[in-house]
Amino acid sequence: TDYYLAIDIGGTRLRTALFPAGSREPVRHERISTRGAGSTLDRLCDLVSRVWPNDGPVRAIGAAAPGPINPRTGVIYAAPNIPGWRNMPLKKELEDHFHVPVELGNDANLAALGEWRFGAGMGCHNLLYLTISTGIGGGVILDDSLVLGEHGLAGELGHITVLPDGPLCGCGQRGHLEAIASGTAIARWAAEQLAAGRQSSLTPDPAPTAKDVSRAAQAGDALSIEALSRAGHFLGVALADFLHAFNPSMIVLGGGVISSGEVFLAPVRQAIYDHVMSPAYVQDLKIVKASLGDDVGLFGALALAASKY
Ligand code: BGC
Ligand code: NA
Repeated sequence: TDYYLAIDIGGTRLRTALFPAGSREPVRHERISTRGAGSTLDRLCDLVSRVWPNDGPVRAIGAAAPGPINPRTGVIYAAPNIPGWRNMPLKKELEDHFHVPVELGNDANLAALGEWRFGAGMGCHNLLYLTISTGIGGGVILDDSLVLGEHGLAGELGHITVLPDGPLCGCGQRGHLEAIASGTAIARWAAEQLAAGRQSSLTPDPAPTAKDVSRAAQAGDALSIEALSRAGHFLGVALADFLHAFNPSMIVLGGGVISSGEVFLAPVRQAIYDHVMSPAYVQDLKIVKASLGDDVGLFGALALAASKY
C-alpha cells in the first residue's frame, strides 16, 4: 500500500495519523502535547517517525499548522502560540528530514477544507469555519473553493480588531478577536476578575483554565457565566462582520470552547442578530458545531496532500 501521512500542529497538541491511499480510516494515530522537552520541531519529527510505515511508501505528508503560512513556499510567517516559530521554513525542514513531498496549510483553512469535504459542511457552497481554542482560527470556502489570497494568508478570522487598544494578542497587536474570545483570553479575563477581588467558585491559584471556567459556568458560577457570555458576544459581533464580507450559508464552529454550550452560543447568536445590516444575511444561515472533532486538522491535511499527490 501507499500512504499519506497527516500532521496537525496545535497550540496545545501535536497529532499525526497514517492513512492508506484512498482511505479515511487511519491505521496509526499518535499525539503528544506541543510543549515539553526539546524543540517543537524535534518533538514533531519524533512523533511522525512513530507512525511511519515499513510496508509501503508515503506519497506525501500533509501538515496543518497554526499561523499565517505561505502554502507555496511552505514558510510559516508567525505562529503566535508556538514559541520561536517565526519565518519557520517547515516544508523544507520536514522534506529534509523525511524525504517525501510536504504540503502545508494553515490549520483552520485545512479544518474548513476537512469539514467541507468530509464533515458538517458537505454539499455546502459557501462556508466559514472558526475554531475557538487556544487561539481563534478561521477558514473561508467561497463558491466551492478555499480562499487563499495572494500569499496564501487569507482567512485569519481571529485577528480581526474588535476592540481597538484592547488586550494584547498573541500576535503582538491589540484588541483582536483572539485576544478577547479565545479559550486563553477567557481564562485570562476570569483570572483578572479574581485578582480584582470578585467572588467566584474559581480559585486564583493555580490560575483557572478555560475548561475550569466552562465547568464552573455549568455549575452556575456567575463570574464564569459572564466570562463565557462576554466572549460569545464579541465572537458574534465579529461573525456579523464576516456575514457582511462573505455571505456564507453555513458557519461551522470548532474548538474546545464551543463545548461550553448555550452559555457561550446564545450570546453569539444574539450579537449576530443585533449587528447584521439586513435579515437577509441570517435567513438561511446555519450555525453548526464541527463534526470531525479533534481530528479535523488531520482530515484537512489528508485532503490537501491527496489533492496534490
Ligand atoms: C493563528 C491562526 C490559527 C489559529 C488556530 C491563531 O492564533 O493566527 O493562524 O489558525 O490561531 O490555531
Ligand atoms: Na485561516
